[in-house]
Amino acid sequence: MIKRIGILTSGGDCPGLNAVIRAVVKCVNRKGWELYGIPFGTDGFLDVARGKCNPQDLLLREHGYNIPGILRGLDILQFLSGTILGSVSKGNFNQPDIAKEILYAYELMRLDALIAIGGDGSLEILHNLAQLGNWNFIAIPKTIDNDVPFTEYAVGFDSAVDTVTRAIYDLTFTAASHERVMIVQVMGRDAGHLGLNSGIAGGADVILIPELVPQLSEAIVEGCCTKIAELTKTGRRFAVVVIAEGVKNERGEKEKNIADRLGELMTLKAQELCQTKSGIFCNLSSIETRVTVLGHLQRSGTPSANDRIMGTAFGIKAVKLIEQGIYSQLVIWRYGEVDHISLEEVMPIVREAHKNNQCAAPVQPDCFMVKTAQELGIYLGNVE
Ligand code: F6P
Repeated sequence: MIKRIGILTSGGDCPGLNAVIRAVVKCVNRKGWELYGIPFGTDGFLDVARGKCNPQDLLLREHGYNIPGILRGLDILQFLSGTILGSVSKGNFNQPDIAKEILYAYELMRLDALIAIGGDGSLEILHNLAQLGNWNFIAIPKTIDNDVPFTEYAVGFDSAVDTVTRAIYDLTFTAASHERVMIVQVMGRDAGHLGLNSGIAGGADVILIPELVPQLSEAIVEGCCTKIAELTKTGRRFAVVVIAEGVKNERGEKEKNIADRLGELMTLKAQELCQTKSGIFCNLSSIETRVTVLGHLQRSGTPSANDRIMGTAFGIKAVKLIEQGIYSQLVIWRYGEVDHISLEEVMPIVREAHKNNQCAAPVQPDCFMVKTAQELGIYLGNVE
């Protein structure tokens, strides 16, 4: 029997989403089923419910890419960043009327199943809707923050690590040329996976992530200065500091550009240390700091090979689960394999974390990547 499958992307975009969509299109088409791309996440359902969009126009077919000349027929989708379906990060899903309209659209489209590619925030919303509407629901994890529980990997993370690593590398040479301390602010929301991994790969001297450094205490700022002062013993006159956006200021408050605050605190502390301790600390007082907030560039760029591979495998797995009639699942990567886990197991962890404004899958302070950074001599805050 022909199945009618819906697919949508929800939450912040990231590289690799189109690779998932492409894989699902190919796999669904090969089975002779139909795939409907819901535009802009649940907003697309609202448009269907309100008659603003005809479901037949949402049918996704393979090779719909009309490139002229000798490239005719080339399937470029997996090479493109962003999401061809568009995405939304906000909605009023707690309003019963909105939820009702979304459920109505699902019925109207006569969908047999829905594949949603989203982060933990979107998954919570969509899982609730799926339960209300009794949908056959499969979720695929994506986020540059890599903070979806039960999966070691979310689509988009690898490309973002590459992008940030390249930025750190590039900044190193201007830092050296002007004998500066470059402070690089990276995304990640409340998680430090992106900062930690790219900091290691980019050769940072200091990496501050919220799991290890919840806030910029005086001791932490002094630790940063001490690390950089010690580098001057070897003749180094520049440094690169990575700070994740989730680290809070000295009063425990979130700041949009926490890297700016770190720069100010380090400048003050360096002067104080020169006066009170002198010696190598006085090498620092003449070193300037400069801040780079990488922002949404971290969500751009051609998807890395790994994001294409993982995105493709995740997409195929989602279709396989539908074929097997296994629903309410999160597709995951663990122990070197694509696998799946019941959303009934995942959601309590996500809900609890959101209730407490915490990250659902933080960096574990005793994980091997933290040890790796420590063994390299990178300053990570006051962890032993
Ligand atoms: O969750 C992905 C992410 O890029 C975070 O790292 C960042 O804090 C947030 O989204 C930015 O969201 P927005 O695009 O809505 O500004």
